[in-house]
Amino acid sequence: MCGIVGYVGHRSALDVVLGGLQRLEYRGYDSAGVALVADGSDGMFLASAKRAGKLANLIGALDEQPLPVAHTGIGHTRWATHGAPNDRNAHPHISGRVAVVHNGIIENFATLRAELETAGHELLSETDTEVVAHLLADELQTTPELPDAVRAVCRRLKGAFTLVIADADHPDMVVGARRNSPLVVGRGDGENFLGSDVAAFIEFTREAIELGQDQVVVITPDQIDVTDFDGNAVEVTEYHVNWDASAAEKGGYELFMLKEIAEQPQAVADTLLGRYNAAGELQLDEMRLSDDELRNIDKIVIIACGTSFYAGMVAKYAIEHWTRVPCEVELSSEFRYRDPILDRSTLVVSISQSGETMDTLMAVRYAREQRARVLSICNTNGSTIPRESDAVIYTHAGPEIAVASTKGFLAQVVACYLLGLYLAQVKGLKYGDEISQIMAELAAVPAAIQRVLDDADVVRKLAGELVNEQSFLFLGRHVGYPVALEGALKLKELAYLHAEGFAGGELKHGPIAVVDDGTPVFAIVPPRSRDRLQDKLVSNIQEVRARGARTIVLVEDGDDEVLPYADHVIRLPKVPTLLQPLVATVPLQIFACELASQLGHDVDQPRNLAKSVTVE
Ligand code: AGP
Repeated sequence: MCGIVGYVGHRSALDVVLGGLQRLEYRGYDSAGVALVADGSDGMFLASAKRAGKLANLIGALDEQPLPVAHTGIGHTRWATHGAPNDRNAHPHISGRVAVVHNGIIENFATLRAELETAGHELLSETDTEVVAHLLADELQTTPELPDAVRAVCRRLKGAFTLVIADADHPDMVVGARRNSPLVVGRGDGENFLGSDVAAFIEFTREAIELGQDQVVVITPDQIDVTDFDGNAVEVTEYHVNWDASAAEKGGYELFMLKEIAEQPQAVADTLLGRYNAAGELQLDEMRLSDDELRNIDKIVIIACGTSFYAGMVAKYAIEHWTRVPCEVELSSEFRYRDPILDRSTLVVSISQSGETMDTLMAVRYAREQRARVLSICNTNGSTIPRESDAVIYTHAGPEIAVASTKGFLAQVVACYLLGLYLAQVKGLKYGDEISQIMAELAAVPAAIQRVLDDADVVRKLAGELVNEQSFLFLGRHVGYPVALEGALKLKELAYLHAEGFAGGELKHGPIAVVDDGTPVFAIVPPRSRDRLQDKLVSNIQEVRARGARTIVLVEDGDDEVLPYADHVIRLPKVPTLLQPLVATVPLQIFACELASQLGHDVDQPRNLAKSVTVE
């Protein structure tokens, strides 16, 4: 959602800002704009352009009507909340000498707007952002220094916001502010950057600064000052980004999603890397909870959204099995509204690839208010959710750009498994050799995923055969159930088709009624080592086939029992039951990606979706 870039330095600000916006495109948006502080015959002035639609529309407009050369600028890709995605509502919004871009929702904007209109301000857009521009222009009448005026305005705002502001009277300065919405600073040499995330400036610097809650940052070419909303200087955390610009590029692949699917063996291997200490025990580096604290945990609640929620559903089976600690999995957006029972011995585990998902962030805050301990599993260094948690396990999947999560999901499952094994270790519930055995099985997973990738032609061909279908069903049991849900979600997101996942056992309780002649049904068959589960799912396949379904069966090598009932077979490498999601999800990702491509959809940025959902 909304990408933001700010720049001051010696380069062409327009080039830096447009380049940054391009790298942030993955977040999802529906209009784009820039503002530069340029030198005119009558002094410095704000030059701006904005357009509805893709960044290409803005770039086209700039080609026709170029902006003057400037070294200070801000830019924005907007994901509409207040007002339609048109030119007028696109950011920046300008009032007097300031241009403002914004991510988030100003909750008291209606009151503030009424106040401004009564005072004679004419607002041109329907956005909450324009209100901020006008408030700021007013404040500058009495508080001429931009940083002071920004702090004063921020104190009046309610809700979630990242603001980035350029001022014609301060040509070498860009000011940013954040509350409940992401903003990071990039430290350069004679230049500095602001961005919604480090991708905005990764081409120029890998040195970044985390901004805390309710902080204002002022960047000039040579200085970065951070204060709270009252102007008190605050300590900041600096960090080095451990990936470079090439990681955020397609690297020869046609789509980010294809690249990220192909990176899954590496993502799993990297997430497993360095998890042993010299004594051969499992260690989780970033874990800030002591073993004593973990020994006291008697309940685990996993909170997450979307694909991350399904990773949590998979994890529950392993965590309960290995630790014997009850584990609930709940959608972040539901969690805090149901009065959950939490106390000091509850471990709340949040899972978020981006670390910025507002529903999950709010659930994390709620859990901490209730005195639960919060551990976050996250893929994004320096993002808000891990910063606000008691402990963190980072997945090392590298930047995930495509809106549909792929490698993020697999890495999350692996991180959850590490957590489960670690808890079993500190609670003395598993011997060292048992843990090593499971770690060895996990270590073999990257090769198994690679096998699935190498055999993917059959999946792509199948997508071609099913390209005209309107409705798909996915069915699984045990850890195959969340895989079925994830397969259906991928297809919804990318192909905009009806797709539903359900537990095999539920079939006869309703879903079987929708099975008709030719309905494609994907079935994830559990490994044969789980005899009863496997048998039961084979029965489910027979049941849908008897009603005319076209069955697509994902089944491990050597299991031929189901072949008589399979219209199509996708072979999976043999892995233990709990690890099967790590291989079974991959063909479903490839299927959705291929089908959506054949339908001509924008796979990396599907309609209506954003990568980072920073509003509730
Ligand atoms: C996944 O394909 C989706 N785009 C979406 O469900 C995503 O997993 C969800 O929004 C949670 O995001 P997070 O992991 O960044 O919190």
